[in-house]
Amino acid sequence: MLISLLVVSGALLTVILLRAIITLIHKPSLRGFPGPWYTRVTHYVLKFHTLAGRRMHYVHSLHQRYGSVVRLSPNQLAFCDPDAFVAIHKIGGGFTKTQWYEDFSGGAGGAGIGIGLFAMTDVKKHASRRKLFARAFSAASLRSNCEDVVKEKVEKAVSRIMIEARDTGEADIMKWWMLMASDIIGQLSFGESFELLDSGEKSHHIHVLEAAALGATLQYEMPGILGLLRRIPVPKLNLLVTAPNLVHRYGQAAVLNLLRHSDNRANLFATMLAQSEVVAEKFELTDDDIRKEASNFILAGADTTAITLTYLVWVILKRPGLRVRIEEEVSSPGLEVSDEALERLPLLNAVIEETLRLYGAVPGNLPRKVPEGGVSLGGYAVPEGIEVETQAYSLHRDPNVFPDPLMFDETRWMGKDILKPKSYCPFGAGTRTCAGVHLARMEIRLAAATLFRHCKGLRLSARMNDQMMEPANFFLATPVGKRCDVRF
Ligand code: HEM
Repeated sequence: MLISLLVVSGALLTVILLRAIITLIHKPSLRGFPGPWYTRVTHYVLKFHTLAGRRMHYVHSLHQRYGSVVRLSPNQLAFCDPDAFVAIHKIGGGFTKTQWYEDFSGGAGGAGIGIGLFAMTDVKKHASRRKLFARAFSAASLRSNCEDVVKEKVEKAVSRIMIEARDTGEADIMKWWMLMASDIIGQLSFGESFELLDSGEKSHHIHVLEAAALGATLQYEMPGILGLLRRIPVPKLNLLVTAPNLVHRYGQAAVLNLLRHSDNRANLFATMLAQSEVVAEKFELTDDDIRKEASNFILAGADTTAITLTYLVWVILKRPGLRVRIEEEVSSPGLEVSDEALERLPLLNAVIEETLRLYGAVPGNLPRKVPEGGVSLGGYAVPEGIEVETQAYSLHRDPNVFPDPLMFDETRWMGKDILKPKSYCPFGAGTRTCAGVHLARMEIRLAAATLFRHCKGLRLSARMNDQMMEPANFFLATPVGKRCDVRF
């Protein structure tokens, strides 16, 4: 046994060394860039931290040690400086999404969910698909077509939280937000809700969503391992392999549903198809595209919103004084509970921004490829083809932009004429900024306001502690405890 272990370790080491030598000989050199010595020859340390769910913490620690430009591997650089951030993400800047997106989404013949808007690397294809999305996902269209659906699900979620807390003494709000956000995106993409709020259970569907992000990370980082996991008869491990396929299958339901209810205004795809009829240029949206985009919505739209709402409630409940002020604001006499009215509440919106700053659900790397001819970034000449990335986790903790950055201070977003800093990016930036930002903000505002109107005096459960809310980073940043219990 020991001998076999030694042989396997020796073989692995040899492969890593050989790859490092080949890399040194063939890749464009990032010599002279600050960073640990090993990043000149290997990406395995980065991979290790990625697989351990600590990527954003690792990259942040490198920024703290080496400054705003840091080498992560022989062909990867990270930037944490507002000007470099703008240059990388600005419209027309020439930086394109890297192959990572396609691989992560399981493209290239993989068994994953397929390449939709999120993963497209071709600039022209992306631009025409994005035009199709624009109207359906605009704040105005969402308010007139989809707000009633969001309100109905929000009210159901809050009433289920109240019932669970009353009957059992505590309610896990993370579970309820997850069920709510999934039901909303289900109803808006499929025209029929998954009815997860009615079941009240973390059903198979939710476990599939949780496994999909982790499975995609594994598939990208260690392609061989999924074949191995498939053979081990442990259902949780098998789910990591099959989850992307299952999400892909949910997408089929969106196609069938659209055929049945193509005139439903509260259906995002119906609005998109109507849009493709009216614009002069005819955009393609085949059944296969709808299937892929719907699968992507399920992944992009549920966890992200549920995680943000969970952190939002947690930070408010940690400060009883803040909770009371929020309760008062959302219960102001005459306040209409509509997205438009809630958008004008100063405290609620300031707390939302501060939550997104410190606990944004997508805090990590947004990799981009340096365009032909190379660029000058952060005072360095960066060769073409190199992967450059920015991470919100570090940009949002830059003391030059956010004084006393680790302090949760909602007042930094309050007051007249507050301008959002150019490196504030919880929803990304430029052409690839989040397509669902208005939907996410609508859900967050309506859910938070409804919860604190109806559940006055809410508290964190005695069993909750800060360690349970530490973020684990598998592309998204999710509380490691995977729950947040509250009580009256
Ligand atoms: C609080 C919730 C959310 C957060 C924090 C969030 C964050 C982000 C971020 C940072 C990106 C940019 C990724 C990159 O550049 O690599 C992104 C892209 C995207 N998001 Fe969201 N998102 C949220 C909710 C949603 C919702 C509700 C949907 C709708 C279904 C959605 C759909 C998308 C899509 C389709 C893209 C790709 C856009 C493109 O490349 O053109 N997101 N999101």
